[in-house]
Amino acid sequence: MQAVILVGGLGTRLRPITYDIPKALVPLRNQPFIGYMMDMLRAGGVDGVVLAMGYLPDQIQDYFATREDLKDFPINYAVEDRPLGTAGGIKNAERYLDGGPLVVVNGDVLTGTDLRSAIELHESSDSLATITLTSVEDPTAYGLVEVDHDMVVRRFLEKPAAAEVTTNLVNAGIYVLEPEVLCRIPAGREVSIEREIFPYLQARGKLRAHVSSSYWRDIGTPRSYLAASHDVLSGAVGAHEGFEYLDIDPSTKRGKNVRLLPPVSVAAGCEIGHLATIGGRSSLGRNCRVGEGAVVEGSILLDGAEIEPGAVVRGSIIGPGARVGQKAIVRGLSVLGAGCVVGESNVLDQGIHINPGVVVPPRSLSF
Ligand code: GDD
Ligand code: MG
Repeated sequence: MQAVILVGGLGTRLRPITYDIPKALVPLRNQPFIGYMMDMLRAGGVDGVVLAMGYLPDQIQDYFATREDLKDFPINYAVEDRPLGTAGGIKNAERYLDGGPLVVVNGDVLTGTDLRSAIELHESSDSLATITLTSVEDPTAYGLVEVDHDMVVRRFLEKPAAAEVTTNLVNAGIYVLEPEVLCRIPAGREVSIEREIFPYLQARGKLRAHVSSSYWRDIGTPRSYLAASHDVLSGAVGAHEGFEYLDIDPSTKRGKNVRLLPPVSVAAGCEIGHLATIGGRSSLGRNCRVGEGAVVEGSILLDGAEIEPGAVVRGSIIGPGARVGQKAIVRGLSVLGAGCVVGESNVLDQGIHINPGVVVPPRSLSF
């Protein structure tokens, strides 16, 4: 069975990181996120994928060109010249599909779900689409799904208001579709599968659900990206060989027992560790440098990030090549874009986002 992976979104909630890196390629431990998705699909029996893309497509294609292990695995690229939405992206991928039932996944969910059981359930029913559900604390950021006792979907409501929440089951962004569903998607315009196609199928009793209790997380916000990074580093999901991103043991203080591979440089007297409140474990990309006496906790440092002596980074994401100046503090789900510089002794807090390349002069900001 083929799969369509939807990777055409702009990743607005992960800006400024996603100004330079498409969400599908943000790294988790030692590989871009989409690598985990490919593993999940292949483990589920998928034998070819079409990437439905639009935003920064070349970077995604370049990544797959480096994956030696996928060189015999059929991958096609359906590039939209303008965003066609989640159903429009599938329609645009149709020319690469074999005309049989297909799997569709949102390209930003990290999950250990068993795709085979969703496919089996779909094949044993007469539904036109089967969607995987997961439970979350707050469904308002997702597609809320009410089901009856036979798992027939009774209501699909994308991004419900708080007052509309009637269940904690939401759309996990993993579907099995009959080819007839593609006939229902108008070509050449933006179409949302969640707002147009699923309500249409639901009204005809042709939409079913498969509930998964496996690990599941949408990585599309700074908080969830940090949490997903922690979960991968701690082995809760997606165990992988290779070790280009560093596992920093939660108990590590002052560089003891930290497994460091060159070319990362961590000076004496730094603390790299665990932050229970937000991100958990820290991850350092290639060519990062952490200066003497600096503290990095529950954070992600992308390739080439530099933390100068005495600086503190807590629960934050530092973009590629960004620099945190001496004794500066970056905390509270802050996100620094590629190549930006935080001047000496500044304090960035409360989820502040600094755009790529911006230089915040020494001590110009304080909170
Ligand atoms: N090809 C293409 N074209 N892909 C797109 C487009 C588009 O125009 N717009 C969004 N996508 C891709 C995104 O890149 C992402 O991988 C996926 O479609 C879902 O888009 P998001 O923007 O991440 O949606 P969401 O997280 O707010 O909500 C969706 O996912 C939830 C689960 O994580 C919905 O499907 C919800 O119903 C669902 O609960
Ligand atoms: Mg999403």
